[in-house]
Amino acid sequence: MTPIIFDTDPGVDDTAALLFAHAHPAIEIAAITTVFGNADIETVTRNAAHIAGRFGIGAPVARGAGVALRRESGPPPAHVHGDNGLGNVALPATPLAPIDPRPAHRLIIDLVRERPGEIEIVAVGRMTNLALALAEAPEIVDLVAGITIMGGAFGVDGPNGNVTPVAEANIIGDPHAADIVFTAPWRVRMIGLDVTRRTIITPEGFARLRAEGGAAGAFIADVSEHYMGFHARFGVTGCYVHDSSAIAAVIAPELFTFREGPVRVVAEGIAEGQTIQRDPAVFYPPGAWDGMPSQQVAVEVKADAVVALMLDTL
Ligand code: BDR
Ligand code: CA
Repeated sequence: MTPIIFDTDPGVDDTAALLFAHAHPAIEIAAITTVFGNADIETVTRNAAHIAGRFGIGAPVARGAGVALRRESGPPPAHVHGDNGLGNVALPATPLAPIDPRPAHRLIIDLVRERPGEIEIVAVGRMTNLALALAEAPEIVDLVAGITIMGGAFGVDGPNGNVTPVAEANIIGDPHAADIVFTAPWRVRMIGLDVTRRTIITPEGFARLRAEGGAAGAFIADVSEHYMGFHARFGVTGCYVHDSSAIAAVIAPELFTFREGPVRVVAEGIAEGQTIQRDPAVFYPPGAWDGMPSQQVAVEVKADAVVALMLDTL
């Protein structure tokens, strides 16, 4: 069983990923930490507490960063996740899980220290909480099992950002934080748009969730209606499996092919938020990339198997 800290901005696909992780016997959710992104920090924290309370996820929920380290944030993407971050689905007044008094980055530090070598941090929003945790307790690089993130667009098949031609939302939302996380000497696995855009839940998949997935499956199908409408605007029938792909990578990393090499993030300018990996097979003259930790970028995915793993689990 892998204990995870799920660092998240729920968020429609975050909700699916959280319930997928909760349902899978190989995952223990040790904590849920929130970060601004798909909605403001109050809203995503309320959503996380709602989901945890309603579906009996007995893990602490902690409120995290409400702004990026340095970048000024624009309004949340209501056209993607709805005004309430959950596809504008009205939430019944179920008991909310209590909110831990500690800020998210402090809870992360405490848990990682309590369980050295055990915890995988799965970050599916901006990486602000992780950067704050690293600043306060740099030794956590040696205490986590590893980091799995949903984020980045490496341009495996050409430029493929979803906020700009080169930038993915979780990275451009706090590029300075992402660069800190990727250049720290811990193992980071990146599940970016290069693979998540090849992995799609179809309307039939949602119908199956609704019919066979109990209360959690029906909730995922409900909140995803608005998200599916957003995808329809650019010709995709169904929804990309972004955040659940990161959970799948923890459960079954063999479903992905990873490329090794150091990763940096462009923090400012026209290419702000671009993620770049240096190919270790290519010779470059000595420079700024030397001595950087090597990280793992997903470049291939067995997409049908990822979707099946998620749907069968739920
Ligand atoms: C990422 O951004 C958010 O909209 C999703 O929740 C996902 O984490 C995809 O770019
Ligand atoms: Ca997310």
